[in-house]
Amino acid sequence: MVTINENYLKLKAGYLFPEIARRVNAFAEANPSAAIIKLGIGDVTEPLPAACREAMVQAVQDMGDRASFKGYGPEQGYLWLREKIAEQDFQARGCEISASEIFISDGSKCDCGNILDILGDDNRIAATDPVYPVYVDTNVMAGHTGEADASGKYGGLTYLPITAANDFTAQIPSEKVDIIYLCFPNNPTGAVATRDNLQAWVDYAKQHGSLILFDAAYEAFITDPTIPHSIYELDGARDCAIEFRSFSKNAGFTGTRCAFTVVPDSLTVETSQGEAVKLWQLWNRRQCTKFNGVSYIVQRGAEAVYSPEGQAQIKGLIDFYMENARIIRDRLSAAGLQVYGGINAPYVWVQAPHGLSSWDFFDKLLQAANVVGTPGSGFGAAGEGYFRISAFNSRANVEEAMARIEANLSLVGTSPRQSSDPA
Ligand code: MLT
Repeated sequence: MVTINENYLKLKAGYLFPEIARRVNAFAEANPSAAIIKLGIGDVTEPLPAACREAMVQAVQDMGDRASFKGYGPEQGYLWLREKIAEQDFQARGCEISASEIFISDGSKCDCGNILDILGDDNRIAATDPVYPVYVDTNVMAGHTGEADASGKYGGLTYLPITAANDFTAQIPSEKVDIIYLCFPNNPTGAVATRDNLQAWVDYAKQHGSLILFDAAYEAFITDPTIPHSIYELDGARDCAIEFRSFSKNAGFTGTRCAFTVVPDSLTVETSQGEAVKLWQLWNRRQCTKFNGVSYIVQRGAEAVYSPEGQAQIKGLIDFYMENARIIRDRLSAAGLQVYGGINAPYVWVQAPHGLSSWDFFDKLLQAANVVGTPGSGFGAAGEGYFRISAFNSRANVEEAMARIEANLSLVGTSPRQSSDPA
């Protein structure tokens, strides 16, 4: 008889974004003339930078010539890409990271889940609340949690609330935790972590032998020069942190797929027998066994991000989305909504009006304004009553969505909390 991984049955509802798509599709079918504007999933809308496209076209030509054709590439990624990342993303910021510590992949979402392959099953895991659902759901799938309670919190996890009450700062917990997921600039709240806060986490991890899994997918959107872009800007982080990065949001690669994970050579953990093992060695072994690398063509496109033209073009994209974020913040604030984020991150975190639940606000906004956002409760119990609006869209759509929200805010009205939450 076939058995299944029954941990999957513990997962609450569907994965957040497919659940949103399901509701939006149902609404669109029932209302075929509605011009729906999607500010839900953080998916880019603007074309790939010309430098990346030109490099990929050239790479296609390379594949058409026996002399420059490429078969399997290195599982870790091509050295010419890893060297540019090490120099421009890390060494230029004073971080001691070398090309050999960088692993190219097809997405940081995949890497955030795959990293559990090399970690044990008995670690105490801490994640912020609200949180990018991948960190929690992959731990549920791996059997690292108990069942979810009515609010959606899983037994056995340590939740670190990041709310307006604590200025969206992940506080060091009183209990000892082994693995800590931190994502800053934060998805979903758009908050950032200060240098002092991140240094406190690194000091904690070093003192307790813990591991920080730092998701820096949104670092390119930081506008405040005092905010660290990488965990490796903090003293000691090479000994206690893995960092995830992505080309999805800074260079528009959500459909092209390229990312990387940094595993420092100095990062060691002890086996149950007390023997020191480098996580680099385990991750390298995992990638060589389960992954055949990212396509040559895509890696050439990613390499072009680091050319002078590529740098100028991605700055243009980031500035464009951050202007959208400013418009969203300003117009929703002017309409009387309480908003957070959107200054160092492409997400604006909005308090639902009239005490509405996140899903009620989602449904009402969809029906009244035909605008889609992401219910905050989908990111965790502490996100209840909030709503995330993504700045990734065309200017025209952002302006139109704001106008529709302004015009319909009074129609949203009040309703009992959580009446339309998914089961
Ligand atoms: C989001 O909307 O939270 C992101 O697009 C999800 C992701 O990057 O996987």
